[in-house]
Amino acid sequence: MKKTVHDIDVKDKKVIVRCDFNVPFDEKLTITDDRRIVGALPTIRYLLGNGAAVILMSHLGRPKGVYDAKLSLAPVAKRLSELLEREVWFRSVPEVIDDAVRERAAALLPGEVMLLENTRFRSEEENNDAAFAKELASLADIFVNDAFGSAHRMHSSTAGIAGYLPSAEGYLIEREVKFLGTALERPMRPFTAILGGAKVKDKIRVIEALIEKADTILIGGGMAYTFLKAQGYEIGTSILDESGLDLALSLMEKAKLKCVDFLLPVDVKAGKEFSNDTETAYFDADKIDPAWAGMDIGPKTTLKYSRIIETSGTVLWNGPMGVFEMPTFAEGTRRIAEAMANAKGTTIIGGGDSAAAVELFGLADKMSHISTGGGASLEFLEEGTLACLSVIDDKEAAR
Ligand code: 3PG
Repeated sequence: MKKTVHDIDVKDKKVIVRCDFNVPFDEKLTITDDRRIVGALPTIRYLLGNGAAVILMSHLGRPKGVYDAKLSLAPVAKRLSELLEREVWFRSVPEVIDDAVRERAAALLPGEVMLLENTRFRSEEENNDAAFAKELASLADIFVNDAFGSAHRMHSSTAGIAGYLPSAEGYLIEREVKFLGTALERPMRPFTAILGGAKVKDKIRVIEALIEKADTILIGGGMAYTFLKAQGYEIGTSILDESGLDLALSLMEKAKLKCVDFLLPVDVKAGKEFSNDTETAYFDADKIDPAWAGMDIGPKTTLKYSRIIETSGTVLWNGPMGVFEMPTFAEGTRRIAEAMANAKGTTIIGGGDSAAAVELFGLADKMSHISTGGGASLEFLEEGTLACLSVIDDKEAAR
């Protein structure tokens, strides 16, 4: 068991907290989805309420060690300050830490907050460089990792720093590990996993891992067409992952051996062109017209999948059922989200596009848990843990 913020005395201490504030922006640099910032608030509020001075840090995008004003965390500092209703001190410097930042950190009082600039402006960050980790550590007395979305990246600010300070997990990581870990280790059954997304090969490892754990796997999204093609069906101009055909067959074979119900769509909504305004038609999944492309699951599939979802003890969803960004092809994804909202069991959204879809349909508060991780939640489902979690102090560890 790893230490959490509850296991450490933070009163009058400086606590440096790694968050994942890698949030999306529009062209005017307005944050379009602040769930990752909101997700970090419980830890920040707990620390402030318990007498700590809080230094926050995060990456944003992939600047590869070069300063880029468009990837500054300035808008995040502003949003945080609104949410926390207090000043969040911030200074945009390419080197992340300069004398002014060091001085402000040294003078930071209990109840005060500051945010460092994008840690990836320093080339050392992604190399998990020890000197940069030490530099970050020198600002504080304790390290708290609450960046679930980045916990699969062993970088100076997510991993290296734990070598120089006493460390603990924040609430967000604790919550994510609790929901995703319980789903993998002791799910309420029947356990249904819904998997979508474009390419089979992006999801092989997660499908393989879930075949070992789930009772039923429901396939949707772009990758469904590779599975359908592998069955010998006509899929028209639907997206096909040629290199995933053999793999699709072997995954279905594996599921059969493990007595896992592995279900493919029975019908699809298709379009003539890849456009919201295109002509549409419904086809049975084994007879898609050669001139059409499946872009969503059809009504027979949504009904079939919804019944399974609503009677499951645990449902885990990763990857949309169709091109939900186009309203014409959003119906299948919306119906699956609605079925999850109506389900009596535990409902977990495994981050990324499915989290965005649930948010878009206004159903986010109906889910038991929505992961803030994209790549991290996939890796957690594959491995059952994440690299950065291992470097946090154990509960028993004496320092
Ligand atoms: C994410 O958005 O998945 C995390 O913030 C990690 O970002 P990265 O893939 O650029 O490391």
